[in-house]
Amino acid sequence: MLTEEVESGEILKEAARRRTFAIISHPDAGKTTLTEKFLLYAGAIAEAGAVKARTGRRDTRSDWMAMEQERGISVTSTALQFEYRDCVINLLDTPGHRDFSEDTYRVLTAVDAVVMVLDVAKGVEAQTLKLFEVCRSLGLPMITFLNKLDRPGRSPLELLDEIEAKIGVRPTPVTWPVGIPGEFHGVIDRRTGGFTRFERSVRGKTLAPEVEVDASVAATEEGGDWTNAADECGLLDAVGASHDQESFLEGKTSPLFVGSAMNNFGVRSLLDAVVDLIPSPRPRRDVDGQTRSLDAPLSGFVFKIQANMDPAHRDHVAFVRVCSGRFVRGVSLTHAATGRTFSTKYASSLFGSDRSTVEVAFPGDVVGLVNAGELRIGDALYADSPVVFPSFPQFAPELFRRVRVKDPGRAKQFRRGLDQLEREGVLQVLYELDGDPLPVLAAVGQMQFEVFQYRMEHEFGALTEYLSTPYRVARVVTAEDAATLGRIPGVRLLRRGDGTLLLLFESAIRLQTVMRDHPEVDFGALLGSG
Ligand code: G4P
Repeated sequence: MLTEEVESGEILKEAARRRTFAIISHPDAGKTTLTEKFLLYAGAIAEAGAVKARTGRRDTRSDWMAMEQERGISVTSTALQFEYRDCVINLLDTPGHRDFSEDTYRVLTAVDAVVMVLDVAKGVEAQTLKLFEVCRSLGLPMITFLNKLDRPGRSPLELLDEIEAKIGVRPTPVTWPVGIPGEFHGVIDRRTGGFTRFERSVRGKTLAPEVEVDASVAATEEGGDWTNAADECGLLDAVGASHDQESFLEGKTSPLFVGSAMNNFGVRSLLDAVVDLIPSPRPRRDVDGQTRSLDAPLSGFVFKIQANMDPAHRDHVAFVRVCSGRFVRGVSLTHAATGRTFSTKYASSLFGSDRSTVEVAFPGDVVGLVNAGELRIGDALYADSPVVFPSFPQFAPELFRRVRVKDPGRAKQFRRGLDQLEREGVLQVLYELDGDPLPVLAAVGQMQFEVFQYRMEHEFGALTEYLSTPYRVARVVTAEDAATLGRIPGVRLLRRGDGTLLLLFESAIRLQTVMRDHPEVDFGALLGSG
């Protein structure tokens, strides 16, 4: 009995020092740079540049990743774990490209908060809007980082309005710039009123020297820039735009920090905010709405599957977010979907693209399970007491292509690839119930088709070609409704691998007409604009 109590106490203590989050941004806003600077400030790397060097080596590890390098985008998601102060930080990487949004969204289900990076010259871009919609639907608290203040940009006050108007979350600046973007020399910390002056280190490779200056001294030394910044802070005080932990946790307000990731300006206060403001893992609700306490028996869910990361050892890695209990390598887990036992002998954690064995993990941590061919995205795993977590949000596919293998002699490889890539969630694979036997691929972004075709060729040796389809919009329907609606002209009924029925329409107008004519039908709650 006593050991159970000790065990439970340790799990709760370890969970309380976890911070699990992702950085979201428009491509080029500075997510990679900031990630690297977090590692630098946490002491996980000695000098900036190490992460990029790792990225540079990736192409030798997987030919698929060669494409990601050519395009300069990140296709893969990895989980970084490092310690800072007395906390264990889990930073989940989100793919930076617009077209990989589904992948990004899945990562978001595995984090407890996000840091949104905005380029001060660009403000809120389309990508950030779409991401935020999902963050809000998941109830994720969000910290905002206004980046690139070393360069000319827009007025930070104007950006506050834009964030509130476009995203619907109220920014509450914690730090505020002294000096306009491009001539930025430090921040006022609105919590203390003090001034932190930044000095550049050589190309931001090492920590930026920070000098704490008393407000009265700063007022003399910084002159007009100080007066302007102090006036703006007065304005923020007057409208009550100050950090409030409760409304932040509810996703209504977003503490905002300013800086320059490249020059390391403002990185330390942002990392401190990750520790001080982001909530530690909370008990997750299961599919029935019951919470599973953090010290309940081990449980977790798969939020990402990646195969063939290393062509020398063709393998599947399923990334599992631990929700409750203590994970110890070698423990047997039950796969909720099949009831089968799953061995975790080869569990690993990832740092950049290097893999190392993970021995123990607690709620909030991410474990990579190797040889996890049977697992699917969203699947729950547990020890001792069963649990099923709510299914992932689904996104309305907006693009549809019929696909066929060019050489019929490679049909077997094609089938295998189709099965694997669907399982990884690269895209959805649909089949007409009666009609053309060729599969229809459904995606949210164009790039998903390119990844599919590239991987089919390079990993499965199956050259494929696409045929166009007339479909533009999809909606999930029940079998009962499908029976009537599937016969309407301009509407087709297709089935996904997991048995879900989808109606495909030739245009959004067609969908609207059908919805109008059939008010009794619930056309599925799919996220997205389709
Ligand atoms: P991403 O992951 O969000 O796509 O952005 P990433 O960090 O790769 O940054 C995109 C570009 O913006 C990089 O320049 C990076 O150096 C630059 N950058 C990031 N933070 C800052 C900042 O605070 N100030 C300024 N001025 N630039 C910043 P690049 O030319 O594309 O790459 P590189 O040659 O510098 O590596």
